[in-house]
Amino acid sequence: MTAQRQLKLGFILHGVGPGWGDWRHPDAQPSASTDFQFYKRQALAAEAGKFDFLFVADSVFITEKSSPHYLNRFEPLTILSALAGATSNIGLVATLTASYSEPFTVARQFASLDHISRGRAGWNVVTSWLEGSAANYGRDKHYAHDVRYRLAGEHLDVVQGLWDSWEDDALTFDKEGGQFFDPAKLHTLDHKGEFFSVKGPLNISRSPQGQPVIFQAGASEDGKAFAARRADAIFVSHDELGAAQAYYADIKARAAGYGRDPDQVHVLPAARPVVGRTPEEAEAKYQELINLVSIDNALSMLGRPFNDYDFSVHDLDGPFPDVSEHGANSNQSASLKILAAARAENLTLRQVALRFATPRGQFVGSPEQVADALQHWFEARGADGFVLFESLPGQLELFVELVVPILQARGIYRREYEGETFRENLGLDFPINRYARRLEAAE
Ligand SMILES: Cc1cc2nc3c(=O)[nH]c(=O)nc-3n(C[C@H](O)[C@H](O)[C@H](O)COP(=O)(O)O)c2cc1C
Repeated sequence: MTAQRQLKLGFILHGVGPGWGDWRHPDAQPSASTDFQFYKRQALAAEAGKFDFLFVADSVFITEKSSPHYLNRFEPLTILSALAGATSNIGLVATLTASYSEPFTVARQFASLDHISRGRAGWNVVTSWLEGSAANYGRDKHYAHDVRYRLAGEHLDVVQGLWDSWEDDALTFDKEGGQFFDPAKLHTLDHKGEFFSVKGPLNISRSPQGQPVIFQAGASEDGKAFAARRADAIFVSHDELGAAQAYYADIKARAAGYGRDPDQVHVLPAARPVVGRTPEEAEAKYQELINLVSIDNALSMLGRPFNDYDFSVHDLDGPFPDVSEHGANSNQSASLKILAAARAENLTLRQVALRFATPRGQFVGSPEQVADALQHWFEARGADGFVLFESLPGQLELFVELVVPILQARGIYRREYEGETFRENLGLDFPINRYARRLEAAE
């Protein structure tokens, strides 16, 4: 008998919340995004719920119009390193942009987190979609969309190459023989490419899981190709199951086309459940969520995938403006989706903004209803699991208390962690060191 396929769950640690109005909820803690105790409480709640991982998103540019969480938040690797000491099993996934970082530093940072957590680190490789990011890193101009993905590919080549600097058993610690390491098992990368020139080796060894797990969330053509070729897990955003199924099938086919086992690539849509003890309570909570969003907030939120475009200069009740050029070099896929919906349904700016700011999603309801919907997406191959956003304060705890036991009773979600490392828990193969593999092949 083969084991039943298991649902994967991640939780995004998003402090005070992703929206512009979240901090004003009566139960919200406005300082949450820089409060370690807040993060620790959520991390422990997610681990009690046997979540696969915690995820900390990131970007590197703000304006005074950015949302409260973006204005004032932790750097991901720093907070996750602190949480590594407070948790034992849960994976720790940090966003770090390839466009504005040096691969040697990135390789060291993630390898360090991987050691600190004994094999629980993951890197969400992003390319950054806000043009203003360039000015924070001494560049006149942001990279073009296609260049960003080419650069990210080479960046990842270098980082993964450096992570193999040391074979797994290279550090011999032979006190009697006076040999700290076996020189035959230390390797120099000597990379020279279009964007980077990195000699190596890396000054930190491999962790118990070999290499950190790679996450990606590209959704454009370039983004999907990159994700299907390189990522172990892929974040995506969908409003309905049909689109999720099409994306899922596409990614799995692309992965197979690159010679990969499609089961080694987890597709994880974002979901924002609103759980109530009864359907009525869930509806009331969803209404609370809507009430937090003013039209100004909604316009700011809508601007984000269009490179923080200022929509307030347009007539709210006029036709949706043609702002496609602001999206093309920014969050290409999300902006295209918004433009397509606006055109197809002839929506006004106000209608688009409100719809975008308060998407209902398909996960609002009683614990059984939410579990049913998650299970349906999972079994209908729209998802291998989900990365969950907390819609309102207290929702994580409610999900763990009420929804997790239902998923467990249905046999689609773990009762205990299967392994010690993040890779083991995700069912991912151990990445054999490239130099050891070459040697094996030659023998
Ligand atoms: C769940 C999820 C989380 C994401 N997290 C980040 C993030 O932390 N930082 C970031 O710059 N982009 C993030 N993105 C955006 C993607 O990296 C990507 O830019 C976006 O999906 C647009 O795709 P494209 O780059 O292929 O146009 C995230 C996307 C999703 C769906």
